[in-house]
Amino acid sequence: MKVTRAAAATALAAALVLTLTTAVSAGNDNDIARGSMSEGSLGDLARRHHLRVGTAVDMNAFHNDAVYQDRIASEFSSVTAENVMKWGEIERVRGQLDFTQADELVRFARRNGQQVRGHTLLWHNQLPNWLNEGVASGEIDAAELRALLRQHIFDVAGHFKGKIYQWDVVNEVIDDNAQLRDTIFLRMLGPGYIADAFRWAHQADRGAKLYLNDYNVEGISAKSDAYYALAQQLLAQGVPVEGFGAQGHYGVQFGFHTAFGVAENLRRFERLGLETSLTEVDVRMIMPTDNPKLQAQAQGYSVLLEGCLLVRRCTSFTVWGYTDKYSWVPGFFAGQGAANILDENFNAKPAYEELRAILTLS
Ligand code: XIL
Repeated sequence: MKVTRAAAATALAAALVLTLTTAVSAGNDNDIARGSMSEGSLGDLARRHHLRVGTAVDMNAFHNDAVYQDRIASEFSSVTAENVMKWGEIERVRGQLDFTQADELVRFARRNGQQVRGHTLLWHNQLPNWLNEGVASGEIDAAELRALLRQHIFDVAGHFKGKIYQWDVVNEVIDDNAQLRDTIFLRMLGPGYIADAFRWAHQADRGAKLYLNDYNVEGISAKSDAYYALAQQLLAQGVPVEGFGAQGHYGVQFGFHTAFGVAENLRRFERLGLETSLTEVDVRMIMPTDNPKLQAQAQGYSVLLEGCLLVRRCTSFTVWGYTDKYSWVPGFFAGQGAANILDENFNAKPAYEELRAILTLS
C-alpha cells in the first residue's frame, strides 16, 4: 500500500512538474508557433532550431503591393520596421508623436503570429530635422538634448511596451576605426549616454531584450573587439544590456567570414551572458548579376545563418528586405544591388534555396 501511495505521489509530482514545465515553456519564446507561415517557409523551417527568421518591412511597399505584404506573413516569424520606428519618422514635428505606421506593422505581426524587433531607439542617422538643427544652432544645449533623448526613449519604448521582443537600443555607436562614434550624443553627453539609453529603455519596457547593434561586427575584428570591451564594461556597471546584434551587411566583392569565424565571435558575447542575433542581413553585389555572383551571394547568406546556428543563444536571423524589388542598396551604394534572397519578381535566388537547405539539414 505504502509503495503504491508513494508511487502515486511520485507520479503526481511528475505530472505536476510536467504541467509546470509545459506551462512555462508554452510562454517561452523558444516554442515558435506556425502562425500564418506556410509549410517549408524559412520561418517554419527555423522553428525546430528555436530561431526566428525575420525581414525588415518597407511600409510603402507594404501598402502598395499585396504580393509583398502576403509573403511577409507566409515566410517569416519576425518583422522589423525598416524605417518607421526611427526617431525622425516618429517625431517629425517636435512634441507630436506619430505611431500610425509602426502600429500598423505591430498589428499585422500580431495577426500573423509574428514577433517584432524594435529598430531603433538611438541612432545618429534619420534623426528629426528639428533636433539636428536645434543642436547645430546651439538652441538645444547638452542638458536639453539629454532630456529629449530620455523622453524619446520613454515615449517609444513605452508606447510599444510588451509588443517588442528585442530592441536595438543603440545602433552603430562605434565607428570604422573601432572608436566611439563622433555623434551629437557623444560630443554633448559624453560616453555615459550609452548606459543611460539602456537604463531608460529598461525602465520603459522590462520585457524586451535590449541590444547593441552594428555593421562589420560579424567576425572577430578591431570593431567587434571594441563592442566586446563595451559590453563587458556595461555589464560590470550593471547596465541592462542583453543582446548583441550583428547587422550582416555583406558584399560579394569583399568576401565573407567563415561560419566558424562568425560563431567564434558570437560565442564570446554569449559567454558574457548576452543573446545574439543577425539583424539586417543582405549581400550586395556590383551590378549586373551573373551566376558566379549569385552563388557567392548564397555563400554569404549561408555563413551568417550557419554561424548563428552554431551558437546556443542566437535567437533571430533577420534579412534587410527579402526581395530585390524593394531594397535600400541601389540608393546607397552606387552601381550595386540584387542584395536580397528573392528577385524583383519574388522568385527564389540561390541564396533562398541555400538558407532553406541549411535549416532543413542542420
Ligand atoms: C536604412 C533603410 O533601409 C533605408 O530605407 C533608409 O533610407 C536608411 O536606413 N543600418 C541600419 C538600418 O541600422 O537602419 C539602415 O536602414 C541600413 C543600415
